[in-house]
Amino acid sequence: MAAFDHQAIQDEYVSTFPVRDLHIDELKNAILYSNDFVEGGAFYNNGQLHENLCQFTKQANLYWAGKQATGNICEVGFGTGHSSLLMLLGTGDKALNFTIFDLVERGYSRPCFTYLESKFKNVSFELVAGDSFTTFTEWVQNNSAKAATYSVVNIDGMQRGHVLESDMRNADILLKSGGLMIVNHTQYGDISGAVDDYVATGKYTDAGVIRTWDPPHRVIQKV
Ligand SMILES: C[S@@+](CC[C@H](N)C(=O)[O-])C[C@H]1O[C@@H](n2cnc3c(N)ncnc32)[C@H](O)[C@@H]1O
Repeated sequence: MAAFDHQAIQDEYVSTFPVRDLHIDELKNAILYSNDFVEGGAFYNNGQLHENLCQFTKQANLYWAGKQATGNICEVGFGTGHSSLLMLLGTGDKALNFTIFDLVERGYSRPCFTYLESKFKNVSFELVAGDSFTTFTEWVQNNSAKAATYSVVNIDGMQRGHVLESDMRNADILLKSGGLMIVNHTQYGDISGAVDDYVATGKYTDAGVIRTWDPPHRVIQKV
């Protein structure tokens, strides 16, 4: 896949800030109200509620992924909802189905989900609570007609070992040709290696997204 115009997508992402920041404030209110520990994501680091500016390019990539979305999209690891929000900002007013898997153990996850669900009326949301090793696998088995219908899967839950392997395998089943698999925390050799393994099969190519840091992610595209 030819790399997209990195500068143009960053400029376009910045143009969403007035709207984005209204959502960020509402998510922050839900997080504060829960009084629970903040698990870092595409906006905050662990335990913090001020933006990690090193994540700007990751945010722009997630926004771009949302722009590519058609039909069905998925996320494993919703947390505070920031990566979901960034993809949703990119989707515009397209009609989409958004399938989300998360433990939903943090006090803010369901309120943040309910907030986004109330604001993005063009999207039909499904939140599946529990360990994705089981829930994602069962969902894929029970929804076999949805195989090869997803345009984006963002994997950001339990990013290690058998859970990551399982999440990537299920994402691969769901993704259609041209679909994007996004894997977070690729600073770790085992995680980046798992992404390399998918590229080595020849079924995926590097999507040519903007370089990311702290922590980086990788985006691959199904051939
Ligand atoms: C780092 S947070 C996600 C951040 C979010 N993607 C963002 O950028 O805003 C990780 C989330 O994954 C969830 N999680 C961790 N292990 C999981 C598992 N085995 N199954 C499902 N969700 C899991 C946690 O509950 C947490 O909400």
